Order: sequence, then C-alpha cells, then structure tokens
Amino acid sequence: MKHLALLPTLVFAARVVAFPTYASLAGISQRELDAILPTLELREPGLPPGPLEDTSAKLVNDEAHPWQPLRPDDIRGPCPGLNTLASHGYLPRNGVATPAQIINAVQEGFNMENTLAIFVTYAAHLVDGNLITDLLSIGHKTPLTGPDPPAPATVGGLNTHAVFEGDASDDFFGNNHDFNETLFEQFVDFSNRYGGGKYNLTVAAELRFKRIQDSIATNPQFSLVSPRYYTAYAESVFPVNFFVDGRNNDSQLDLDAAREFFQFSRMPEGFFRPNGTRGAEGMDQIFLAHPIQPGGNAGEANSYTLDPTSADFSTFCLLYENFVNITIKGLYPNPTGDLRKALNRNLDFFFQGIDGSGCAQVFPYGQD
Ligand code: HEM
Ligand SMILES: *[C@@H]1O[C@H](CO)[C@@H](O)[C@H](O)[C@H]1NC(C)=O
Ligand SMILES: *[C@@H]1O[C@H](CO)[C@@H](O)[C@H](O)[C@H]1NC(C)=O
Ligand SMILES: *[C@@H]1O[C@H](CO)[C@@H](O)[C@H](O)[C@H]1NC(C)=O
Ligand SMILES: *[C@@H]1O[C@H](CO)[C@@H](O)[C@H](O)[C@H]1NC(C)=O
Ligand SMILES: *[C@@H]1O[C@H](CO)[C@@H](O)[C@H](O)[C@H]1NC(C)=O
Repeated sequence: MKHLALLPTLVFAARVVAFPTYASLAGISQRELDAILPTLELREPGLPPGPLEDTSAKLVNDEAHPWQPLRPDDIRGPCPGLNTLASHGYLPRNGVATPAQIINAVQEGFNMENTLAIFVTYAAHLVDGNLITDLLSIGHKTPLTGPDPPAPATVGGLNTHAVFEGDASDDFFGNNHDFNETLFEQFVDFSNRYGGGKYNLTVAAELRFKRIQDSIATNPQFSLVSPRYYTAYAESVFPVNFFVDGRNNDSQLDLDAAREFFQFSRMPEGFFRPNGTRGAEGMDQIFLAHPIQPGGNAGEANSYTLDPTSADFSTFCLLYENFVNITIKGLYPNPTGDLRKALNRNLDFFFQGIDGSGCAQVFPYGQD
C-alpha cells in the first residue's frame, strides 16, 4: 500500500499547476503557498482611479460597447452591474479584471461615485481576488478538474459566502449566477403593488423586508450581520440609483429594463447612464421603513436573535474595523513576504474609500 502515500503529492501538484491567476489566496497553507506563488506573476497594483471629469448623462450602450453573448469560458457572477459591464466590454468580456478596471468601468458605465466604487471594489478584491496578480473575477468558475479535492470556497471570484453574499432566499434573484424567474416575478409583483408598475425606493423597502421575513421563516442558518447587513440594503437601492435611464432622473425603474439587466446582463437599447454620480442614496430610507437590527436565526427557523457585536447603520467605522480585523485577518492570519506587502497596499487603497469619514485606519499587519 506504499504507493498510496504518493497520492496526496500528486493531487497537490495538480492543484498547484492549475491554480487560476485570479483565484484568492485566502486560507491557503504556507506549504501550498510556497508552491503556488512561484507560478504566479507578481503585479504591482495600479493606483485607484480618481473621479470622472465629466459625470453628465450620456449614451453608454454605444457602438464602442455592444452587448455580446457569453462565450464558453466567460465568467459571470452574482452582481448584475458587473455582469452587464462585462457583457458590454466596459470590463474584459471574460469576467476577469483588475480593481482599477472595475472602478473605471462602474464610473464610466453607471456613474458610480468614486469613493464608493473604491470601497466596494477593494473590499471585494481583498476577500475574493488574487492580491499577487492583482486580478479578480466577477464570478465563480469551477477552477479545478480531475481528482483534486474541492477548492476552498474562496477560490474563484465574488463567491465568498457570508461575506458579501446572502443566502439563496435572501438574494434578489437567486443564488447566484442563475436568473430565477420566480424571484423576478416577486420583484414584478411588488413593483406593481407598491410602485405603480415601476421599481422604486418604496418597493425596495417592502421587498427587502419581505425577503428578510421569508429568510427568518425558512432558513435556520439565516444570518444578517455586517458586512452582509450593509450590502443587503445597498443592493436594494442600486437598481434605483444605477439602472434608471439618465434622461429620466425620476428614480422609477422600468420593469422591462430591469429584466434586461438582471436576466441578460444587457443595457436597454439606447441606455443613458445617470446624470451625475450616484452612491447608496436611499439606503437609510428603506432601512427606516422597516428597521431590522443585525442578527440571525439561532439554528432553527423563526429564531431571529439580535447580534449586538455587529456593526449597524449607526456604527460605520465599526463596519470598517471589523471587516479588516475580523474578515480579512481571518482569511489571512499570518501573511509574509509579497503577500503581506500586497495586503497592506490593498488595505491602504480600501481605506481611501472612506478617508474623510472620520474613521481611523487600522493596520492588522503592521505599517511598512
Ligand atoms: C463597484 C464594484 C462592485 C462590486 C465589487 C459588486 C459586487 C457585488 C456582489 C458580490 C454581489 C452579490 C451579493 C449577493 O449575492 O448577496 C452584488 C450584488 C448586486 N450588485 Fe454589485 N457590485 C459592484 C457594483 C455594482 C454596480 C455599479 C451595480 C449597479 C449598476 C450593482 C448592482 C448590484 C445589485 C442590484 C445586486 C443584487 C443582485 C441580486 O441580489 O440578485 N453592483 N454586487
Ligand atoms: C428560485 O427561488 C425560489 C425562492 O427562493 C426557490 O424556491 C426556487 O428553488 C428557485 N429556483 C431555482 C431554479 O433556483
Ligand atoms: C413609488 O411609486 C408609488 C406609485 O407610483 C408612489 O406612490 C411612491 O411614492 C413611489 N416611491 C418613491 C420613493 O418614488
Ligand atoms: C443633467 O442635469 C443637468 C442639470 O444638473 C441638466 O442641465 C441636463 O439637461 C441633464 N441632462 C440630461 C441628459 O438630462
Ligand atoms: C436628479 O436626481 C438626483 C437624485 O435624485 C437629484 O439630486 C438631482 O437634483 C436631479 N437632477 C435634476 C436635473 O433633476
Ligand atoms: C482592530 O485592530 C486594531 C489593532 O490592529 C485595534 O486598535 C482596534 O481597536 C481593533 N478594532 C476592533 C473593532 O476590534
């Protein structure tokens, strides 16, 4: 039986050879890192792009950015904004990009406000991206084939559960790459009931509340703590802020346009981006309509218990500190060398997204 001892080595070698350039290095042992890192090209990250000079509304579904159908290896993920930008060529169409490319794309295509774009993009990159190659994929593609052990949950793009993504029942349109017609019909139903046939902030508040109630009633593991607590509300307002044609400026999203974005990753014909930058405006409004505090079910349905340790809307700096001290430090407990350097670079970039908000920067890996 001696030959069996070779098996782990072979499996391990296959995994190293196949390691994708955009896969996260979080949670990988030092022994494996020593084998993987020499296969990756260390890339000095570009500085976070600044704001657009011209933020006026303009045609963005233009000749230079035609929608194209997916090719077999193109990656798409849970975010309809990024999926759409990739399918129009604002991002590389294969779905693998640098953080700087993502910031440029969300600004150019949807007029996302610069500091929010920086904050969200580096948060995602720190959790799900490859900090050595400076690449992030916008979704998950099963990266390894053959006899390898299943890849860790962090390999392959915007998929790290419990960090950004909610539970299946908590996602707008299902978990998470596949458009879910049932959930879209609920979106339509609520838009008809509360928005006169459009999706607006009133609808967003009612639909978010309904989704939370359904999750509490059906998912024993339902968790709604920071950072997911924030992203749940942010995602509810993004369609209002970014998917409404910039010539309307009325914050009422047409349902045919919504289906284009969510189902087909496609801008409506002749689509104009918003007139002026947009962020997460409206989040406070939909929270206040049904103020749910952070918490989760305690192992069975209908056992929602508050979690006073989670950041909430009154403790924004705690969101930042917990994200760095707990989420990132948890993914990378003891980084060394190039990896530690890259973490510190990207933590600095991330902090630029909230610089000026009065929060103090924290340095879990020391200061270089
Ligand atoms: C700036 C970089 C961005 C990153 C890194 C990002 C990332 C994500 C991630 C990880 C999710 C999944 C959350 C989950 O499934 O629970 C998500 C959802 C979402 N994103 Fe983005 N996003 C970005 C920008 C945008 C923009 C510009 C828009 C709008 C134009 C947008 C609209 C949405 C919406 C509406 C959802 C909810 C989708 C659903 O639950 O079905 N995002 N985003
Ligand atoms: C769509 O979402 C509903 C509600 O969460 C769920 O019951 C159903 O299984 C989902 N359908 C698919 C195809 O994922
Ligand atoms: C949403 O639409 C409904 C129906 O037209 C309207 O009563 C409500 O005020 C709108 N809410 C917002 C925030 O625009
Ligand atoms: C954008 O808003 C400005 C005022 O801030 C207005 O003058 C301009 O006409 C608007 N553009 C469009 C396309 O609606
Ligand atoms: C467009 O909408 C934004 C956000 O609702 C508002 O701040 C701005 O004043 C509006 N601009 C025009 C020209 O109506
Ligand atoms: C985060 O860690 C820093 C030390 O790196 C510490 O000063 C700070 O109090 C911590 N914050 C939280 C919320 O734990």
